[in-house]
Order: sequence, then C-alpha cells, then structure tokens
Amino acid sequence: TVPGTIFEAIGGFETIDRLVTSFYKRVGNHPELTPIFPDDLTEVARKQSLFLTQFFGGPKLYTEERGHPMLRRRHLPFEITPSRRDAWLECMEAALEEANIDEPYRTAIFEKLTMTANHMMNTPEY
Ligand code: HEM
Repeated sequence: TVPGTIFEAIGGFETIDRLVTSFYKRVGNHPELTPIFPDDLTEVARKQSLFLTQFFGGPKLYTEERGHPMLRRRHLPFEITPSRRDAWLECMEAALEEANIDEPYRTAIFEKLTMTANHMMNTPEY
C-alpha cells in the first residue's frame, strides 16, 4: 500500500470491507434501491470493494479484473433517478459512520462519492 493515500490512511482492505458490508446491508433494505439491485448482493459487493480500493488510491484491483471502470456506461442498464442517487448516498453516509471512518477522511470520501453518484444519474424523476 502506498502511504499518503486515503486507502492507506483509513486502514486499507479491512476498512474498505467493513464499509462495503455496511453499505450493501443498507442497499438491500432500501425500497428505492432493491428494485434495481439483484437479490444476492455478494458479487456486486465484491466488485465494489475492488473499485473503492482503487478509487481511494490502493492497488488497481478493479481494472485488473474488469478493465477500464466506465462506471457511467456500466450503470446505463439501470434507471438511476435523483431519488435513487439520494438513496445510494444516504446508505453510504450511514455506512461511513458505522464503519468508524474518521474525519477528515469521512468527508473526503463522501465528497468524492457524491460527485461520482451525480455522474451516474441517467433518468429523470417519474
Ligand atoms: C454496479 C446502482 C452509484 C460503483 C451497480 C449495479 C447497480 C448499481 C444496480 C449493478 C448490480 C448488478 O450487477 O446487477 C447504483 C445506483 C447508484 C450507483 C442506484 C446511485 C447513484 C455508484 C457509484 C459508484 C458505483 C457512485 C462508485 C463510486 C459500482 C460498481 C459496480 C456497480 C463498481 C459494479 C460494476 C461491474 O459490474 O463491474 N450499481 N450505483 N455505483 N456500481 Fe453502482
């Protein structure tokens, strides 16, 4: 792990794992999100761990396995409305707290994910 990255500062793989576990537990119980996610979240959680590791400066595990992230393109099959974006971010905000990720990293992570979540929207509200 490279020193000076958010990945390293928050505690590496173990912390990413705690965050992702807490996040998908919430996603799997959120009425806005369950319609577009599979019932079994194991595989999406695994890919998200690879992605967040890389996104926060850890090893490029996602790209090794899946190639260029192209996240907006990968999300096009799913209707991502403003309220689904809000729901996703709500789950993430709570997960950052539950995983005990401290400031200033909590806010830095949340801001970066907010920008990415905004970029994922592809459907207006019904
Ligand atoms: C995959 C929803 C934002 C990263 C998915 C899937 C859904 C989804 C439905 C596919 C599940 C499946 O495989 O069937 C959403 C919604 C978002 C959102 C509603 C709200 C804005 C984000 C953000 C990130 C992200 C902000 C990254 C920071 C990923 C990754 C995958 C994924 C890495 C797996 C892609 C792959 O197959 O390799 N998301 N997503 N998503 N999402 Fe999101």
